[in-house]
Amino acid sequence: MKTIAFFNNKGGVGKTSLVYHLAWMFASHGVPVLAADLDPQANHTAMFLNEERLEELWPDDEHPGTIYGALRPILRGTGDIADPHIEWMIPETLGLIPGDLGLSRFEDKLSDAWPRCHNRDESAYRTMTAFYRLLQRGAGQWAKIILIDVGPNLGAINRSALIASDQVCLPLAPDLFSLQGLKNLGPALREWRNIWSDLLEKKPRNLDVPRGTIESIGYIVMQHNIRESRPVKSYQRWLDRIPGVYCESVENNPQPSPPSPEKDPNNLALLKHYHSLMPMAMEARKPMFFLKPADGAIGAHVEAVRTCYNDFHSLARRIADKAGVMMN
Ligand SMILES: Nc1ncnc2c1ncn2[C@@H]1O[C@H](COP(=O)(O)OP(=O)(O)OP(=O)(O)O)[C@@H](O)[C@H]1O
Ligand SMILES: [Mg+2]
Repeated sequence: MKTIAFFNNKGGVGKTSLVYHLAWMFASHGVPVLAADLDPQANHTAMFLNEERLEELWPDDEHPGTIYGALRPILRGTGDIADPHIEWMIPETLGLIPGDLGLSRFEDKLSDAWPRCHNRDESAYRTMTAFYRLLQRGAGQWAKIILIDVGPNLGAINRSALIASDQVCLPLAPDLFSLQGLKNLGPALREWRNIWSDLLEKKPRNLDVPRGTIESIGYIVMQHNIRESRPVKSYQRWLDRIPGVYCESVENNPQPSPPSPEKDPNNLALLKHYHSLMPMAMEARKPMFFLKPADGAIGAHVEAVRTCYNDFHSLARRIADKAGVMMN
């Protein structure tokens, strides 16, 4: 089983939509998926579930059905993680650990635990590895892949979520902000990996902890937020710089003449703007590539749905290859 996080500290590039679509694509091709919403904004959860169900999961008090509920004993200092509730989209094939706005309360607890691990403090290790252990429990024997959606920052929640991941995939927009984000992200990932590898030597003997490899499997260029009024030249300029910045910042391997994005093996996909398919999919509460005429996908939309299916199918295949996971 592989755990893959989708991460970029620049917000709004399309991470959550991407993870949602990939989860459905994997699940429909024989790869059982556990999707985990580790972003306190909980947008991923809101894509999967309707408002009635969200209201049931987020009552006024305990929230036993969300990630926050499973972490509550740690947050209150009364014990270890509880078994996570899984919301099944397809039984034993596509499950979600629902997110929760309350998860933001875990940020301080995690910031505090990180330095305390250096002192071999067992409760600090339990806190630091809570996401990892929750995900392993949730995935049990059924899931082949865990996909993690996180928020856009380099904070303590994301550090812990990334340490729980075998691999990371970086969705990027072809603009200045994403390139700047990428420059911060590579060194942050390296620092987290290195410190965790030192901390592994001090871990409590009986605790199941992640290895913290966080191997970067590549980037995905998200083109939907390119402003249509902007000249193509300016978009192309940022796009052309991505391969070089990725090699230098993420792989720590500067290239004097990096490949073009089209030829770059680290480029997993250039994802299009799917225009009206996205609002239609949100309304129908299903992936864009499963839209039917009854959902409003008629006329030119039929071809757009097919293209969208092919785009996500080939992206899912590339990710499955990198993860060593078999897909039908
Ligand atoms: N390929 C696409 N085509 C059209 N619209 C898209 C596409 N991908 C994402 N969007 C839209 O872009 C907006 C931002 O997407 P999303 O919420 O997935 O970004 P995010 O990176 O998860 O944001 P955050 O950093 O806040 O978590 C949403 O309105 C979404 O519907
Ligand atoms: Mg998001």
